[in-house]
Amino acid sequence: MSLIVFPFKEETLEVVAANLTTAATHDRVHEVWAVGAADNITTDRVADLGRDISVAHSKPVEVFAQERLGTFRSGKGDGMNTAIRRAAERGFDRIHFYDADITNFDHGWIDGAEEAADRGFGVVRHRFPRAATDAMITWMVTRPGLATLFPGTILPRLGQPLGGELLLTESAVAALASDDAVVARSDWGIDTMITHRTAALGLDIYEHNAPDGKRHALYGSLTDIRDMTLECLDAVSSLADAARPTSTFEPDPPAPVPDDLKEVVGYDTASTRESIATQPSGEETAVLDELGADGSTDLGGEEWLDVFPRLMRGFDLDSPGWRAAAFRLWVRRVLHYTENVVPSGYDPATNYLEGTILSFEAQADKHGRP
Ligand code: DGY
Repeated sequence: MSLIVFPFKEETLEVVAANLTTAATHDRVHEVWAVGAADNITTDRVADLGRDISVAHSKPVEVFAQERLGTFRSGKGDGMNTAIRRAAERGFDRIHFYDADITNFDHGWIDGAEEAADRGFGVVRHRFPRAATDAMITWMVTRPGLATLFPGTILPRLGQPLGGELLLTESAVAALASDDAVVARSDWGIDTMITHRTAALGLDIYEHNAPDGKRHALYGSLTDIRDMTLECLDAVSSLADAARPTSTFEPDPPAPVPDDLKEVVGYDTASTRESIATQPSGEETAVLDELGADGSTDLGGEEWLDVFPRLMRGFDLDSPGWRAAAFRLWVRRVLHYTENVVPSGYDPATNYLEGTILSFEAQADKHGRP
């Protein structure tokens, strides 16, 4: 029995309708759920859509609001955990998660995950090519964090540790439903926690490549993803004493990246630079001093390699000074990469980024965990 779950916020209804229909019309899918964020003005409209799609395709399509389960900001984590808890109670063999805003979702995503699960993989993660300036939290925070904490393991090798598109088999769902740290993580940190825990369960993990990429709305200024950046930094920092992974990992072979994706611009540089034009407050300055960073210049790869482990070790999600300093330094790192590396072209930029992850692993191998 396979279940498809779409956590959603305020989405374009046509896109959600198309995705619910795609899921409901797949032979292997027994049920479809859409889990709405709290206070979501589109939940009632999505519920109407769900009823129509359910009748049209004779398949249960349930739309409901997420429960308040966690202890962090109520966000995507509460949505995923609400679905994980219900799915564990209902005994589905497989649960797929997909973001509701994918504009090119089709049966190929479901087939890719189901086929790998048929071959015995306990967790299937979807990977997809992304623009050279997209995925800036993945490249500058989550993968460096995993490389620093778990060098030489599968965790730094996962292409998209923040990916919200994955298939979990029954034993993974049961383990996550009863893991207090996963249930607590109600915010954007949920993906990092699920990634770590599934890698520590000893299940075989497959990474399926969706070769066309995931088409979805990109960002304006990087301030649009400020909370996400800080919550993902906090989540990876929280793994400092966590178990080393025991799962095995097999990725799909690399595939060519669509030409148009190579041209996509991930965010707006000018408004992003404006967002860090303000002078740091006293609290922020104290944190920058503690980190040995002045915050007034952009950061190249070597500088980020140096400061990031200290940033991860000291980070305090509840402290305005730490939040402001972490965001400023990350923005300055992303701007430096965008202006100095991206102009060399898509493939050199992506190879460069992979190289930075190897440098974090090499540094951690030499000096141990921060
Ligand atoms: C990431 O970095 O992967 C986030 O999705 C933001 O793009």
